[in-house]
Amino acid sequence: MDRESGSSMKELISVRSLGQADLESMVSRALEYRELIDDRVPVTEVLSGLCVANLFFEPSTRTRLSFDLAAQKLGADVITCDPATSSTLKGESLRDTVLAIAAVGAHIMVVRHGGEGIPGQIAEWTGLPVINAGDGMNEHPTQALVDVVTIYRHFGGLRDLRMGIVGDIAHSRVAGSLIHVLPTLGVELTLIAPEEWLPSDSTLPATSDLTSIQADLDIVYLLRVQTERGATISDEYRTRFQLDSPRAACLRDAAVVMHPGPVNRGVEISDDVAESARSLITEQVANGVPTRMAVFHSIAGGLR
Ligand code: CP
Repeated sequence: MDRESGSSMKELISVRSLGQADLESMVSRALEYRELIDDRVPVTEVLSGLCVANLFFEPSTRTRLSFDLAAQKLGADVITCDPATSSTLKGESLRDTVLAIAAVGAHIMVVRHGGEGIPGQIAEWTGLPVINAGDGMNEHPTQALVDVVTIYRHFGGLRDLRMGIVGDIAHSRVAGSLIHVLPTLGVELTLIAPEEWLPSDSTLPATSDLTSIQADLDIVYLLRVQTERGATISDEYRTRFQLDSPRAACLRDAAVVMHPGPVNRGVEISDDVAESARSLITEQVANGVPTRMAVFHSIAGGLR
């Protein structure tokens, strides 16, 4: 693959900037990269001569490592700023920190931050292409793309699939991106959560009764209860919403289970269901690198 092929984008702050054609193009490229990775074919030219800065101001395992590896596979230099050891601890402002990282030589920034809108703010300050790796409770665009790629690889398409997003929707940036991407691609989406975790401003179908809808779903997409953002886990929640073996036995034979991770086993999902043949959770992680390669590829197209 060369740097010029396919469409390009300036940055990825929100999935709202992506139309159906953009999404389909991104998925198609991610699927190509997944094949190259599986066949162990090296791909090095797309980001050669460019530097990617990974700036994670909140914890991450999957997103951070897959952005790092995706950038390396495309030939970039990768630098990482760890807030726990950076000069922010000496009182440096976020603006001065990111301007310093730009001056060091970053050409693309990948940003995770607890503050909503911070990736867009950093893009304004630096003038660099920024990829939002999760901002507060707002969006997690590349996780939504990873999930689309995973669904596509499993079902061969997305149109008319019935999917329920189950759990702590109110605090979930993953849901914040999925609720825009999935309907654009023809998925019939239902939000399923306790009343207090259902968004008040959504026009999507919503229910607090998982039992009444579970047998109709092709995809059960579970979310972690985000205690770090004020949500609490109760026994009632486990009873009404945990996907355990008895509940999984009520699903359609071909239904699959997804979760963006990290998983809290014994809360939103039981051990055995997480590891069952229905679970695409590991597959979602495996699609993280090729999907993020596809995102870098689109951004690299606008950099030269
Ligand atoms: N899904 C996700 O964002 O996982 P990490 O927090 O481990 O990156």
